[in-house]
Amino acid sequence: MADHEATAHHHEHHPEDPQAHATRRAILQAAIGVSAGAAVLSTLWVGAGLVPREEKVPSKEPVAVGDTLVFATGPKADQEITLDDLRAAQQEKIPFIIAFPKSPENVVKKDLITNTIMVILADPNKMSPETRQYASPEGVLAYSAVCKHLGCTVSQWQNDTWLCPCHGGRYDIYNQAKVVGGPVPAPVPQLPVKVEGGKVVVAGEFLGEPGADV
Ligand code: FES
Repeated sequence: MADHEATAHHHEHHPEDPQAHATRRAILQAAIGVSAGAAVLSTLWVGAGLVPREEKVPSKEPVAVGDTLVFATGPKADQEITLDDLRAAQQEKIPFIIAFPKSPENVVKKDLITNTIMVILADPNKMSPETRQYASPEGVLAYSAVCKHLGCTVSQWQNDTWLCPCHGGRYDIYNQAKVVGGPVPAPVPQLPVKVEGGKVVVAGEFLGEPGADV
């Protein structure tokens, strides 16, 4: 009897404890859950506010090692530039070709202005050693074609110098695009290239920052 009473007594004194405990725990967990959820949400919200989430657009990705170069304009636009194309251009007195990079996934990355590139077949013997180092042995040479002055495409050729039509900026392509005329503040960066399977392939990153120096 005493045992029974003791047991009953025990139950009488704590009949709601397990439930109360469970309820408190549920409330607590809910509160933690809500606040943790709110914290995550607010982090996302603040993050979204600070750094606008930008979708990666493949055609806007910067030029990368392993990309090939394709014609930017003309009847062969988007086609890969070959050594034969460059030889033919040379014979037709077209000194250089304006190009865009194409990724190994076949995306022509034409929607990023700093991906505008000039490629030329030049005499390696006329190149400075630094220039030659990043050209192909055949003499294929590439530079950013975005003028360092105000960002025009450097699209002309005159007296063996590369000329920006906007304000007469002139670059010496044999000497890492050293500025030899006009209001240009700095050389455009060279793009290391090689020839692989007859195609012009990007062999390294730009040797400087492409784009206008503003
Ligand atoms: S933008 Fe090329 S010289 Fe001014």
